[in-house]
Amino acid sequence: MTILVSIGVLFLTVASAQDKSADESCFHCHPAQVTEFQGSIHYNKNTCADCHGGDINISGDVISINVMHLNFTGKPSPVQLTDFCAKCHPNSTSAYKEGIHWQKLKEGRLAASCTDCHGTHNILASNNPNSSTYSTNVPYTCAKCHENQTKMQALYYGISTDRFDTYKNSYHYRALISGEKGVATCPDCHEYHDIRPASDPKSAVNPANLPSTCGKKGCHEGANNVYISGGKIHETQSVYLLSIDAKRLVTYFYIIMILFELAFTMGLIFLGITSNFEIRRRH
Ligand code: HEC
Ligand code: HEC
Ligand code: HEC
Ligand code: HEC
Ligand code: HEC
Ligand code: HEC
Repeated sequence: MTILVSIGVLFLTVASAQDKSADESCFHCHPAQVTEFQGSIHYNKNTCADCHGGDINISGDVISINVMHLNFTGKPSPVQLTDFCAKCHPNSTSAYKEGIHWQKLKEGRLAASCTDCHGTHNILASNNPNSSTYSTNVPYTCAKCHENQTKMQALYYGISTDRFDTYKNSYHYRALISGEKGVATCPDCHEYHDIRPASDPKSAVNPANLPSTCGKKGCHEGANNVYISGGKIHETQSVYLLSIDAKRLVTYFYIIMILFELAFTMGLIFLGITSNFEIRRRH
C-alpha cells in the first residue's frame, strides 16, 4: 500500500513537472501571462508555443535561445490572431468568418475578434460561471462595445448604443438575473459566431427567420408571427448628438432655462426694490 502511494506521488510529481515545463521557459520573463494561463481551459492541454510558436524545449535549467525565435509570433493583430485559433477550432472560426464582426474587422474597424469575447490567456469553457461567454455574463461582454458610445457612436458606426439598456427592460433579462435557466440572452437570438445585421436574409433576427429563432426547442415552440410582434426586444431607441444622449441634452436645456428665468426674476425684483428706495429718498 505505502509503496503504491509513494509510486503514485512520484508519478504525479513527474507528471506535473512535465506539464509545467511546457511554460517554464516563458515563466521567467512573463509571469503575469503564465499565471493567467494556468487558470484557463487551455492549460494542461496546450502550451504558450501552440499559439505563439517559438522553442520551449528546455534542457536542464537552460532556456533555448530560440525561445522567441523560429516561428514565433509576438503580439498578433486582431485579424492575425484568428489564425492562432483556427488551427484547433476550425468550425468555430469558419462560422465566425460568415458574420458581420469578421467583415468589419477586415475593414479595419474595432469589431469583435475571438479574444474580445473569450479573453486571451484566461479563456474558460462557456459553461463555467466565470467565463465571459457564460449566459449571465455574455450580455456584459457584448455591451463592452454595443453599449459603448465612444466605440459605437451613431455618427461612426451608424448603429445604436443602447442594446443592453433595452434588453435590460425586457422580461428575459429580469428572469435571467432572478436565476432562471435557459432564458434568452444576446447570442440565443443573434447566434454567437455567425452574427449578422437584421437586414441580412440569413440573420437569425431577420423578420423572416424570427419564427424559427423564437421557436427554438425549449423557447417558444410553435411561435407564430402574432406572438412575436406582440413584443419588440429593443423597443426604445436613443438618439445621440455628438455622443451625448439627446434625452440628457433636453434635460440640460430645461435646467439652464429654469436657472436663467429664476436669475432674471430675482434681478427684476432686486431692481424693483432698489428703485423704490430711490423714489422715497427724493421726496
Ligand atoms: C529571457 C526572457 C524571456 C523569455 C524566456 C521569453 N520572453 Fe517573451 N519577451 C521578453 C522581452 C524582453 C520582451 C519585449 C518586451 C517589450 O517589448 O515590451 C518579450 C516580448 C514578448 C511578447 C510580446 C511581443 C510584442 O510584439 O509585443 C510575447 C507575445 C512574448 N514575449 C511571448 C513569449 C513566449 C510565448 C515565451 C515562451 C515561449 C517567451 N516570450 C519567453 C523576454 C522573454
Ligand atoms: C490561445 C492562444 C494563446 C496562448 C496559448 C498564449 N497566448 Fe499570449 N497572446 C495571445 C494573443 C491572441 C495575444 C494578443 C493579445 C492582444 O493583442 O490583446 C497574446 C499576447 C501575449 C503577450 C503580449 C502582452 C499581452 O498580454 O497582450 C505576451 C507577453 C504573451 N501573450 C505571452 C504568453 C505566454 C507566456 C503564454 C503561455 C503561458 C501565452 N502567451 C499563451 C494568444 C495566446
Ligand atoms: C461576439 C462574440 C464572440 C466572438 C467574436 C467569438 N466567439 Fe466563440 N463563442 C461565443 C459564445 C457566446 C459562445 C458560447 C455559446 C454557447 O455555448 O451558448 C462561444 C463558443 C465558442 C466555442 C465553444 C464551442 C462552440 O461552438 O460552442 C469555441 C471553441 C469558440 N467559441 C471559439 C471561438 C473562436 C476560435 C473565435 C474566433 C474565430 C470565436 N470563438 C469568436 C462568442 C464569441
Ligand atoms: C493548439 C490547439 C488550440 C489552440 C491554438 C487554441 N485552442 Fe481553444 N481549445 C483547445 C482545446 C484542446 C480546448 C479544450 C477542449 C475541451 O476540453 O473540451 C480548447 C477550448 C477552448 C474554448 C472552450 C470551449 C468550450 O467548451 O466552451 C474556447 C472558448 C477556446 N478554446 C477558444 C480559443 C481561442 C479564442 C483561441 C485563439 C486565441 C484558441 N482557443 C486557440 C485547443 C486550442
Ligand atoms: C469589440 C467590440 C464588439 C463586441 C465585443 C461585440 N460586437 Fe457586435 N459589432 C461590433 C461592431 C464594430 C459592429 C459593426 C457595426 C457596423 O459597422 O455595422 C458590430 C455589429 C453587430 C451586429 C450587427 C449590427 C449591424 O446593424 O451591423 C449585431 C447584431 C451584433 N454586433 C451583435 C453582437 C453580440 C450579440 C455580441 C456579443 C455576443 C457582440 N455583438 C459583441 C462590435 C462588437
Ligand atoms: C429575445 C431576442 C433578443 C435578445 C435577447 C437580444 N436581441 Fe438584439 N435584436 C433582436 C431582434 C429581433 C432585432 C432586430 C429588430 C430590432 O432592431 O429591434 C435585434 C437587433 C439588434 C441589433 C441591431 C441589428 C441591426 O441590424 O440593426 C444589435 C446590435 C443587437 N440587437 C444587439 C443585442 C445585444 C448586445 C443583446 C444583449 C445585450 C441583444 N441584442 C439581445 C433580438 C434580440
